[in-house]
Amino acid sequence: MTKEIFALNTDHFNEMVEAALVGIYIIQDDLLRYVNPALARMFGYHPKELIDRVNVLDLIHPEDREGVRSRMRQRFTGESAATPHVARGITAAGEVIHFESLARFVIYQGRPAITGTLVNVTNCVQAQDKLEKHRQQLKRLSAQLIASREAESKRISQELHDEIGQALTAVSINLAQIKQNLPQDVPAAVHKRLAESEALIAQTLILTRKISLELRPTMLDDLGLIPTLRWYIHQFGDRLNIEAAFTTNGIRQSFSPELETVVYRVVQEGLTNIARHAQASKIEVNLDYQAGRLLLTITDNGIGFDVQELLQSKNVDHRLGLLGIEERISLFVGTLNINSSPGKGTTLRIVFPSIELRHI
Ligand SMILES: Nc1ncnc2c1ncn2[C@@H]1O[C@H](COP(=O)(O)OP(=O)(O)OP(=O)(O)O)[C@@H](O)[C@H]1O
Ligand SMILES: [Mg+2]
Repeated sequence: MTKEIFALNTDHFNEMVEAALVGIYIIQDDLLRYVNPALARMFGYHPKELIDRVNVLDLIHPEDREGVRSRMRQRFTGESAATPHVARGITAAGEVIHFESLARFVIYQGRPAITGTLVNVTNCVQAQDKLEKHRQQLKRLSAQLIASREAESKRISQELHDEIGQALTAVSINLAQIKQNLPQDVPAAVHKRLAESEALIAQTLILTRKISLELRPTMLDDLGLIPTLRWYIHQFGDRLNIEAAFTTNGIRQSFSPELETVVYRVVQEGLTNIARHAQASKIEVNLDYQAGRLLLTITDNGIGFDVQELLQSKNVDHRLGLLGIEERISLFVGTLNINSSPGKGTTLRIVFPSIELRHI
């Protein structure tokens, strides 16, 4: 039906090609045998300046000529193109444009030729480049933010532990000495106050240690990742009164401090989520290293959740924890896979595909 219309209305068809918004061309013997005004305009010429005069490769950016030449060769052998081809062209004014073209083999005036359409995608490519640049900038910014937050946590944690912790210990020793040296006739109220102060200092010391540990355990720097995880996971299980197991395989040396911090933070967020959302009675954390690949899994047997629903939710404020995990692991090209469904528990699976052990 379509063919009939065109066959019957060649003039209309020609008018349509001439008025088309996309570029249309016929190439034969490397020469442009026909171009419509839209194509000529894209390259800054009048059709007359191009038809039968210009070798098509002269309009192509030198770095893309080989690619375009081989695509043309394929078309001439009759092989059809499955997808449009993107390449760069050079305009009459010497500017670079990006175009997308789809061509096919035809017989034109009794001889082999190729005909195709061409769309200017320069704005699209430039927007994509800009987006990619912004994405990279954001990534760098986020990496910097994570690093400076980590350094800050370490500093505050150390100060809490060293300065405040030691000061509190000193006060508690002083109080103990005062208590020992009190005269016999001191009123009971003073003893009571002293005992209260001692209890308060002991509580504050515990609280200071807890905050310091949550911020960043010095253990991570002193003993390394595995003992720290073992301690963290077990104390977590004890605190929640649930079964918490940690297994590890293939790790005999340490990783870089940055990666160890990332793994620790991921476990911290994973377990915090279990405590907050899962209602689980069992947690299993596993860390395996084999041939450069580091695999971390955090599994619970809790209520689970609808992962798709969460990922599709427009409100990212509801998943800052999981986003934080993705952001941190992306620093080491890690990937996060969440396996969960309501009533079936949750498994976070994090893979770092190419990680070096230190001191090997
Ligand atoms: N182990 C889990 N079991 C059940 N639901 C979970 C589990 N982990 C995550 N979720 C669900 O996924 C949601 C997103 O988790 P995410 O850690 O990103 O955010 P959050 O814990 O709600 O808040 P925060 O930003 O403080 O971490 C949670 O609100 C919860 O509904
Ligand atoms: Mg969370």
